[in-house]
Amino acid sequence: MMRSRWNDPRVHRKIGVNMSRYLVTSALPYANGPLHLGHLAGAYLPADIYVRFLRMQREDVKYICGTDEHGVPITIKAEQLGITPKEAVDRFHEVIARDFQRFGISFDNFSRTEKPEHYRFAQEVFLDLLEKGYIVEKSMKQFHCDRCSRFLPDRYVGGTCPQCGSANARGDQCDDCGSWLEALELLEPLCSICGSTPVPRDTTHWFLRLDAFQEWIEQWLAGHPDWKGNVLNYCRGWMDEGLRERAITRDLDWGVPVPVPGAEGKVLYVWFEALLGYVSSTREYFRNIGDPEGWKRYWLDPETRLVQFIGKDNIVFHAVIQPAVLHGLGGYVLPWNIPANEYLNIKGEKFSTSRGTAVWLNDYLAYFPPDPMRYALAINAPENRDTDFSWDEFRARNNELADVFGNFINRIMKFAHRTFDGMVPAPGEAGEAESQLMSSARATRDEVEDLIRGFSLKTACLRVMELAREGNRYFDQSQPWKTAKTDRESCATTIYYSLQLADALRILFAPYIPFTCERTGKMLGREALEWKEAGCENLKPGDRLGRPEILLEKLETGFETVIYDDAAPETTKKAPEGSPDVRETVPYEEFMKMDMRVGVVTEVHEIKGADKLFRLLVDLGDHVRQLVAGMKPYYTAEELTGRRVVVLVNLQPVKIRGVESNGMVLASDDGKGRVRLLQPADDAIPGDGIH
Ligand code: 2FM
Ligand code: ZN
Repeated sequence: MMRSRWNDPRVHRKIGVNMSRYLVTSALPYANGPLHLGHLAGAYLPADIYVRFLRMQREDVKYICGTDEHGVPITIKAEQLGITPKEAVDRFHEVIARDFQRFGISFDNFSRTEKPEHYRFAQEVFLDLLEKGYIVEKSMKQFHCDRCSRFLPDRYVGGTCPQCGSANARGDQCDDCGSWLEALELLEPLCSICGSTPVPRDTTHWFLRLDAFQEWIEQWLAGHPDWKGNVLNYCRGWMDEGLRERAITRDLDWGVPVPVPGAEGKVLYVWFEALLGYVSSTREYFRNIGDPEGWKRYWLDPETRLVQFIGKDNIVFHAVIQPAVLHGLGGYVLPWNIPANEYLNIKGEKFSTSRGTAVWLNDYLAYFPPDPMRYALAINAPENRDTDFSWDEFRARNNELADVFGNFINRIMKFAHRTFDGMVPAPGEAGEAESQLMSSARATRDEVEDLIRGFSLKTACLRVMELAREGNRYFDQSQPWKTAKTDRESCATTIYYSLQLADALRILFAPYIPFTCERTGKMLGREALEWKEAGCENLKPGDRLGRPEILLEKLETGFETVIYDDAAPETTKKAPEGSPDVRETVPYEEFMKMDMRVGVVTEVHEIKGADKLFRLLVDLGDHVRQLVAGMKPYYTAEELTGRRVVVLVNLQPVKIRGVESNGMVLASDDGKGRVRLLQPADDAIPGDGIH
């Protein structure tokens, strides 16, 4: 690890230290659903903090990621949703990219493994390793479901883990103990599609000869004794067991085709090609910026520091398979560090969609800004052991940030405006307290730098918070509200140094809470984000300050949940007075089951004896439907005829007053008797879908 003095700007200038080149990656998330807080805390937020810090150090850094769009996780999800795998990955790629962006995860490139460039690259790599003899073709036994008439790769088989006995193991992996399994090892195997017992049958696949790399990998790992314990432990387990050949192709029709004649219906194993996604995403980035060869500086130069943030379930793939593949190719840089995180749990269990305990990024962002969660997750990061997320903890961290940092900035800004006309005052001579404050800021800067470089992001964040507390103590002990009346120079000194500290905090907190720090920068009239400037006197007497504004809102106890009932029993914002209660949250998938379309009312008929109902015929583009709608109190037959409406077409048909109703026209209702039909735009055409 670099010592902090190497990063002192004066030392740099004197001896000309070369900065390093960093390539930082986060595990490519499967595009099979939206992301939850567990994802964010594991592989993305820590990487983003690290990368933002490196950028502020003026290091040469690229942050690369993308969605992992192949494999059984995708095909199973698509089957559940009744859509094609392509439709599924298109949808979830967008959702994932959007949520990352809103959380401030600052990738340089966020690609997709569905891109042709990735296909080409993955196929080239396969052929290269095949030619070198590292990949061999073999026949093998694989589970086949006779009822479904198909082979069952990976997650298409479930069963009991032979290692830990968990009943939740799947054909590729046991999430409970982290073992990477071969499906045939599972005890009591079952087809995940139909539940029947599969039978082993012969098929042909291509195998990566991991055994050929065992000695080399052991040596390579021995060169990294400083890596995190969880990574080294997992790897040791693997090495002790002995590396075996592993099948890197699958019988699936979704994925990157195996590029050899006679391999129809077979694709590359998702893990084999997804790992190559880091390279193809980097290639895409450089092609997009008009430097198509630029990726080579990062991937083909041994000096590059490749830092890969992942969750613990990905360790073996990054620390064993990936180095084998890259080494087999030759000339590629290998991971410099793999700071794998443990899991963020909720009430002691993994976030789970089926149990409904996941907190989705999108749901959180509907109620709160990103920074309080970034801060809470950084402090409660599963760096060395699993940690538990709770809304109580979130509220406490939010309030701590608001009280200690937000409030400090707010107090001095208000003071500077009230007493010094919104300008940085000229200080008197710095006393002991001021020298102490500024030297603490510089010491924190250097200590935090060492901590972040050593991947102790959580301790680093706590240190910055301690500095903020020190700022508050300095302000309180200096009592500027008194000296404003008795000793204006002393008051000016207090505000001057408090402002310098505010600037230091803005810089040191920036990797963690970038949005808040940007707003703080605007208030202080300071936009530069230079790590080395923290603890220096960057604001000059006479500099104009921006308007003070509240940076962070505190949260009260007992505010009820709308984010997620079970997870957040007492934390969410109150709905404004008088608005109706929000109904139970439905997952996106549920919502998408509603088939709504644009229609045009072609005929309106009375129903005998019904004073509220009309029988409507509605043209839906490809067919006409009959509906019964309670519109008579609100519209005349003339007003309805020819009108565009929104129709829910897959509502269960019912008979009303003996007339069959096949769907429902949608309308707004203020609850007090005012009902208005929803009206699609004028250029919407009957049959258009609604989502
Ligand atoms: O565990 C996962 O979500 C995988 N999609 C991670 C892939 S990382 C790499 F291979 F790209
Ligand atoms: Zn089956």
